[in-house]
Amino acid sequence: MTMRASLERMPGDELLRLARVLKIPIVKRNIKRSWLVEEVMKELEKRNERKISPIRLVTPAISLDNVTKRFGKKVAVRKLNLKVNPGEIVGLVGPNGAGKTTTLRMLTGIIRANSGNIKVDGYDIRDKPIQAKERIGYIPEKPTCYPSLTAREYIMFTARIYSVPHETALIRMREFIELFHFDEFIDTYIGILSKGNLQRALLIGIFTREPPYILALDEPIYGLDPRGAWNLKKLLRQLRDDGSAILVSTHILEVAADLCDRFVIMNEGDVVGKGTIDELKALFPEAVSLEEIFLSLTGGIPK
Ligand SMILES: Nc1ncnc2c1ncn2[C@@H]1O[C@H](COP(=O)(O)OP(=O)(O)O)[C@@H](O)[C@H]1O
Ligand SMILES: [Mg+2]
Repeated sequence: MTMRASLERMPGDELLRLARVLKIPIVKRNIKRSWLVEEVMKELEKRNERKISPIRLVTPAISLDNVTKRFGKKVAVRKLNLKVNPGEIVGLVGPNGAGKTTTLRMLTGIIRANSGNIKVDGYDIRDKPIQAKERIGYIPEKPTCYPSLTAREYIMFTARIYSVPHETALIRMREFIELFHFDEFIDTYIGILSKGNLQRALLIGIFTREPPYILALDEPIYGLDPRGAWNLKKLLRQLRDDGSAILVSTHILEVAADLCDRFVIMNEGDVVGKGTIDELKALFPEAVSLEEIFLSLTGGIPK
């Protein structure tokens, strides 16, 4: 959607708020919507001219080197090596308990690795946690966040945490509300959103920032209805094509096969296979699908 179309569709209260943020002088009575849209457009164009160069991600955007995580005696992740470049969707696949969630939680700095190095956009998650976290967008497997904020409050709050200029947040929030058909839920409390809608709210929160993104998504398709899943996959591919680096964990193989450029297959904390679908097929000439490769690598194909 063009900026103008997006502004024309913006609800009146959001448009007024945007105008106020942009310091457009508003004479109290009888302001016309079309006039307001023009003024906002002019102001935004002025700002765009001043804008600094677009964000470039370093390559690899995500890197885990020799990363190990133990819980007591249990090794959840063992000497993991994983890289995601800008312009790539990498699938972290494996059965339950493989170590996928643990990997993403280490990557996002929620838990600490016992050993190894983790970098996000070149920043070490241990030495430069703020910079690393600033660059990553994370959707957890079981999102829990501020049940007593509305989706709108949550989204604008995250935008502030990430220092997104207010006007940018307002415009981008509206763009993604439209894309996700989220209008009916935007003023709903987080605590009563369904999993799919909560995930949309979290995604809109991330997308108030400017692309390209570094995304870590834990089972993002699980819990979405078919249309929601289709839309999300389409969006992720588009972000990938525009230079984002995306790591997706999933135990649903159709999702992985359909979405990812490359796979890292984990089982009980170990990487048991990696590569593109063609590379994996070359290792298992008999296998006809990712499912058969996966089963062969994670305990064998049931007889
Ligand atoms: N906080 C924790 N304390 C103890 N064990 C954990 C913890 N988190 C994960 N584990 C264990 O680590 C292993 C990997 O878990 P997880 O990363 O959640 O796997 P996946 O996401 O692939 O299903 C499992 O055996 C799990 O029980
Ligand atoms: Mg998990």
